[in-house]
Amino acid sequence: MVFIAKEKVAIASDHAGLLMKSAFGEYLEEMGYEVLNLGTDSTCSVDYPDYSNNLAEALLKGSVMRGVLICGTGIGISIAANRHRHVRAALCHNETDARFARLHNNANVLALGARTTGLEVALDCLRVFLNTEFEGGRHQRRVEKYS
Ligand code: RB5
Repeated sequence: MVFIAKEKVAIASDHAGLLMKSAFGEYLEEMGYEVLNLGTDSTCSVDYPDYSNNLAEALLKGSVMRGVLICGTGIGISIAANRHRHVRAALCHNETDARFARLHNNANVLALGARTTGLEVALDCLRVFLNTEFEGGRHQRRVEKYS
């Protein structure tokens, strides 16, 4: 019998992204992923950098290879995440953003805005983000220059 481990994907959000994060958790499980929920889990107002820091730590430890961050616009949480050198967080608004974030930027974090992107479009972004491989080649050289 062959045992294939499920990939674990981390999800984190602030209060503004909570509902979308919950939907993402369910969708990821339906797609066969294991989910690492790094909070927040209530509607109380919180500071989004605390949650991007949680995800950065999980990536650094190797608990996950990829993750999703959600705040109101996706802007603050992606800026905060990208302060960590090992994080390549891409703020995406549509499937095309998500595809190129993987193909050209080897993004390891998908960032989304729950107040600016509808749930169906956000789920499309997630699916494309998870199913698209980095192209490497000339893009590898460029990604290496990020740090
Ligand atoms: C929280 O109100 C909001 O500022 C935050 O979710 C995000 O949009 C910041 O960039």
